[in-house]
Amino acid sequence: MGRAMSDDRIVRDMKDALEFFMALGYERLPLPPLGAPGSRDKRAAMEQLREEIGDCRRCKLSEKRTHIVFGEGDLDARLMFIGEAPGREEDLQARPFVGDAGVLLTRLIEKMGLMREAVYIANIVKCRPPMNRDPEWDEIEECKGFLERQIDIIRPDAIMTLGRIAAGTLMGNEKVKITAIRGKLFEYRGIPCVPTFHPAYLMRNPKDKWLTWNDAQVVLAVLGRSGTTWRVKK
Ligand code: URA
Ligand code: URA
Repeated sequence: MGRAMSDDRIVRDMKDALEFFMALGYERLPLPPLGAPGSRDKRAAMEQLREEIGDCRRCKLSEKRTHIVFGEGDLDARLMFIGEAPGREEDLQARPFVGDAGVLLTRLIEKMGLMREAVYIANIVKCRPPMNRDPEWDEIEECKGFLERQIDIIRPDAIMTLGRIAAGTLMGNEKVKITAIRGKLFEYRGIPCVPTFHPAYLMRNPKDKWLTWNDAQVVLAVLGRSGTTWRVKK
């Protein structure tokens, strides 16, 4: 078998693989930009931040938590989702949005044509409040600097906030009414943010899901407007 023949074969196999992804609706392959210096810097900065948080005891939430839920996703994500606080499942697994609310959030992300792995997901506070109570403002004050640094490292083109607490924290106004502000753009350090309901609220009020879907259109418009090819899965 000649060398030329097997090269042909490799090219054909690659073409088949690429056509397969195109048929799935990908406009580009969901691979991390290998060795891009920006990414390496981001990874180092994020690791350093995680080290600084350490076995955090800065607020009283640390007393009852199992794990710190730092956040996860693509450090080059163009879109960040910001929730409120870990729940039971998140506290056990040390991952954001992996319980019932997470199933709903993941479905929203996929319905928006994205993959969960291609966005970044974090919370306002990184430890579970006992009995899933709302995080208190002193706890938020203590923790939010870490989220701010995550946002600074990722520098997304858009942020979708989930629920009243996440929106209120980034807006610097703890009195916001989610029904009044949802779907309305605000800016956080120059980054367009779109508030919507919390997925846990939507589980209790499925009739409002269409409103969150409307809010998602605002997010998609923001991302479309900002230009670059998006990692699309139709
Ligand atoms: N609710 C949140 O706000 N965040 C999670 O990570 C899970 C549930
Ligand atoms: N109340 C909240 O705090 N969040 C919602 O998403 C809806 C009602």
